[in-house]
Amino acid sequence: MPHIIFIEENGIEKKALAEVGETILEVARANDVNIEGACGGNMACATCHLVVRKKWYDILPKPSDDESDMLELASGLTLTSRLGCQIKVTEDLDGLILSLP
Ligand code: FES
Repeated sequence: MPHIIFIEENGIEKKALAEVGETILEVARANDVNIEGACGGNMACATCHLVVRKKWYDILPKPSDDESDMLELASGLTLTSRLGCQIKVTEDLDGLILSLP
């Protein structure tokens, strides 16, 4: 099982085991990471905004146009921002590091 590392606003690191096929939002919620995800993964809120470490950002599939549009609404947008509900866990993502903005 891949493990995913979340760094919360206060700098606390949470390591989570993830199932392949889950979204990062689902992994975060299952592991008490402080993320909102108000629309439940329907790409309608941008409250699942996460900042991906650069090395990992380049490995992820590119965001869709709809995700990029929704990210424009996210506060604290960065060049490596993504929506947690749009990233699916794969074996390649073992060790993925994400920060809460
Ligand atoms: S949970 Fe709303 S856009 Fe991801």
